Amino acid sequence: MKKGIIIQGSSRSEGDTSKIVTLLKADTGFDVVDLNQKNIGHFDYEFKNRDDDFIELFKDIVTNYNVIVFVTPIYWYTMSGIMKVFFDRISDFLKLEKDYGRQLRGMEMASVSSSNDSRFYDGFEMPFKNSAAYLGMTYRGHLHTWVENDVVSIEVKNNINAFFSK
Ligand SMILES: Cc1cc2nc3c(=O)[nH]c(=O)nc-3n(C[C@H](O)[C@H](O)[C@H](O)COP(=O)(O)O)c2cc1C
Repeated sequence: MKKGIIIQGSSRSEGDTSKIVTLLKADTGFDVVDLNQKNIGHFDYEFKNRDDDFIELFKDIVTNYNVIVFVTPIYWYTMSGIMKVFFDRISDFLKLEKDYGRQLRGMEMASVSSSNDSRFYDGFEMPFKNSAAYLGMTYRGHLHTWVENDVVSIEVKNNINAFFSK
């Protein structure tokens, strides 16, 4: 049976994105990790960050899960900085301890964005899609969601249900 993990990439743990993550969790039963609660430094060519939270988190993900759902707010037309740092740090495992990096092969990836309106941007999905292809993961697509005045609409809830029933 597939076990999935939702990776929440907002700069606040209890904001709009967390409302979407709560719904995704209820729909899928997947575990959640909040990157905002982790100490994960920027990629470093000399791997000076090897003692922060990333190494343990990544090993846990590739060992115990086979589906990753990246959930990020839209910040400046793209994924959040916190989420981008997570992707950058995957490079650690393409250079060191490559056996863990290779475990991404065959895993599934989906991406979810959140903002305050239904407007979505061309190109937003590209880093997820291309990264999945580069890492040998199967890309399952993207869902855009939005939260207006702290409320998730029925439309967005229906979109979430439809996306995860695929
Ligand atoms: C730094 C920053 C940049 C943002 N850039 C965009 C943007 O380019 N397009 C957009 O639609 N919303 C943008 N927003 C609005 C957020 O996407 C929106 O408020 C989102 O729901 C925030 O989720 P959060 O509460 O999890 O941070 C931006 C917000 C912040 C804080």
